[in-house]
Amino acid sequence: MLEVKSLSKKYGEKTVFEDLELSAEAGEIIGLVGENGAGKSTLLKILATLSLPSSGEISLMNQTYRKNEKKLREYIAYVPQDIALFEELTVMENMKFFQKLSRKKVSKEDLKALLSSVNLQADQVKVSNLSGGMKRKLNLAVSLISDPKLLLLDEPTAGIDLRSRIEIGAFLKKLALEKNILIIYTSHDMNEIEQVCSRVVIIGEDPFYSKILKDFL
Ligand SMILES: Nc1ncnc2c1ncn2[C@@H]1O[C@H](COP(=O)(O)OP(=O)(O)O)[C@@H](O)[C@H]1O
Ligand SMILES: [Mg+2]
Repeated sequence: MLEVKSLSKKYGEKTVFEDLELSAEAGEIIGLVGENGAGKSTLLKILATLSLPSSGEISLMNQTYRKNEKKLREYIAYVPQDIALFEELTVMENMKFFQKLSRKKVSKEDLKALLSSVNLQADQVKVSNLSGGMKRKLNLAVSLISDPKLLLLDEPTAGIDLRSRIEIGAFLKKLALEKNILIIYTSHDMNEIEQVCSRVVIIGEDPFYSKILKDFL
């Protein structure tokens, strides 16, 4: 479903990664790991069509990013590391706002169902009053409004309470299985990755991560 061929990214003289290859199928959950600065966020942004690679080719559902970027965007949802929500609006007002931006028509009932699927029952609560874990869940629910085929999550479980972390992990597994979505996400927690992911991809060349991966397998 997703094919990444010989992908490289440079910022000026600096090479972030080179000749990266990745092939993934619908329903998989891929964990991206690597040291800080290895290029995980950069790769997610490129896969989200928000940044261009320096060279290489990506295709999704047999269509190249180069030629079909606009169309492919409809199938892709990306949740950045920094939470992107309106703090002064309630949970449901945020859902409604992002629904309006989406091409898809989603009823209020469906928005509610999305919120309860991530176990967030706080429709009328202002986002500024939510815990970090609840904000993450809301950001996840927002990203699913457009019914994506490829879901890209940058550290969706960083710095949140254990319960939310476990719930998000369980939700992602269910989502991949039931909706046959390809999920690619970054995390620093190898235990979580082992629990949630079907596969791990290491970004960068730090031998520490190669060793962890061996232990993991
Ligand atoms: N817009 C940018 N301009 C220049 N360098 C950048 C930019 N974004 C990221 N980088 C650099 O690219 C490298 C990879 O960053 P990033 O993808 O954020 O890594 P990670 O998410 O794995 O911690 C880092 O060295 C970072 O400083
Ligand atoms: Mg990052």
